[in-house]
Amino acid sequence: MRLSTHKYLYFLGIAVTSAGCSQEVSFQKDVNPILQENCLSCHDGKGEGVEASGFSVRSYDDLMKGTKFGQVVVPGDSLSSSLYRLIDHQADPKIQMPPHHDEALSAGKMQSLSGAQINTIKAWIDQGAKNN
Ligand code: HEC
Repeated sequence: MRLSTHKYLYFLGIAVTSAGCSQEVSFQKDVNPILQENCLSCHDGKGEGVEASGFSVRSYDDLMKGTKFGQVVVPGDSLSSSLYRLIDHQADPKIQMPPHHDEALSAGKMQSLSGAQINTIKAWIDQGAKNN
């Protein structure tokens, strides 16, 4: 009796864990709203981020095109993706995104993304950066 209860809990544990891992992040529902809210002001049209780097977050295609120097999202590999490295404070503070320079600061735009937002973007890249 005791043993089967243990077994039951053990399998329940596996079921819960794998459900958590296989949860798919949606670009439209989860990732895009973060980018639109925190990045679009500079990375669209004639925004300073576009002028300086050519990087726009207006659409999925723009995002995947990256900067004028190349892609910032490597599907399946967040650690090689500068998009992730720049928001996760792994880059020099001077080039962190969103930027922490004075004008951005006074415009209230200096805030980093939250840990949950950063993890969402990381998981999305690691799951293949799909337009889902
Ligand atoms: C206040 C304006 C501003 C905001 C907000 C902003 N950026 Fe930027 N971004 C810039 C500027 C300016 C550059 C070019 C200069 C540089 O590379 O530091 C840039 C460059 C970049 C680059 C290219 C870096 C490279 O390798 O050349 C990426 C990727 C990027 N931003 C991502 C983001 C993301 C993601 C967000 C939102 C989380 C964001 N940015 C928010 C202004 C902004």
